[in-house]
Amino acid sequence: MSFPAQRPRRLRSTPAMRRLVAEHRVHRSDLILPLFVKEVLNEPQPIASMPGVVQHSSDSLRRAAADAAAAGLGGVMLFGIPARRDPRGSGSVDENGILNRSIREVRAEVGDELVVMSDLCLDEFTDHGHCGVLDGQGRVDNDATLEIYAEMAVAQASAGAHLLGPSGMMDGQVAVVRQALDEAGFQDAGVLAYAAKYASAFYGPFRDAVDSALQGDRRTYQMDSANRREALLEVELDLQEGADMVMVKPAMSYLDVLADVAEISPVPVAAYQISGEYAMIEAAAANGWIDRRAAIEESVLSIKRAGADSILTYWAMELAQWQEQR
Ligand code: PBG
Repeated sequence: MSFPAQRPRRLRSTPAMRRLVAEHRVHRSDLILPLFVKEVLNEPQPIASMPGVVQHSSDSLRRAAADAAAAGLGGVMLFGIPARRDPRGSGSVDENGILNRSIREVRAEVGDELVVMSDLCLDEFTDHGHCGVLDGQGRVDNDATLEIYAEMAVAQASAGAHLLGPSGMMDGQVAVVRQALDEAGFQDAGVLAYAAKYASAFYGPFRDAVDSALQGDRRTYQMDSANRREALLEVELDLQEGADMVMVKPAMSYLDVLADVAEISPVPVAAYQISGEYAMIEAAAANGWIDRRAAIEESVLSIKRAGADSILTYWAMELAQWQEQR
């Protein structure tokens, strides 16, 4: 009988051997924790479709940010839920609006120990729930929205955000944000561009997380899930417009896109493991259908393996704690 010349199983034989030859690993500094803060809350409020995730009060947000810094995470991404909404999303540009105020409080808490990022989008602030303002026909008006994004950018940077995350998928959004920041003297505030953001059914639980009022969908501005090549166009445009980092979102259903972007991007690439990805694994685990920790670690590792440098995940704290235990 002849023997196999190559035996790949040798390098799989023990946990120590597998650890030695692992091609990819997730480090806690790769992880970015999204945090929701809601105006008028005194206590954190659970989000039904995202078990384990809460809408924070101002106090609990500060504590969560301090914990994230102590755990050695890469950063936090802040989302604000205002008490009142209007058609233009005016709360987004108000320096005392929930998001801008919270950025300031979080920076006061963590200083430069943690990268503080903020969602730059109108959907949490508009009463119709779209990421931009509407024209006379009820369509999302790209260029009118850009003017508000410019103002938002300055408000967020003056509040102290290190990185702004324009996520509305308006054409030209990175350029206007960059220009507004430079004109206002915020040369050091960076842009984490949601470059390839797809219209996805997996955002469902996020709508609960931000009490979204959205009727309809975002298909006229977010990308069509049928398209792969188009992601490279979006990335190229954002780079030309001055993006410091680019993001692919969602993550798990778009790992091919993530791999393409990682291949060509000269700047760091982030991926967002979104609310629906979180909810699916939590739901299956709660039913005893999958091993929760193994599924979480495998899902996040797959995103790293596909090419993400940074991963936004609601499990960031738990993943960091598991790493401590090793
Ligand atoms: C837009 C925004 C969304 C998410 C992050 N930023 C919602 C959307 O585009 O519909 C989704 C995040 C998630 O689902 O976890 N402000």
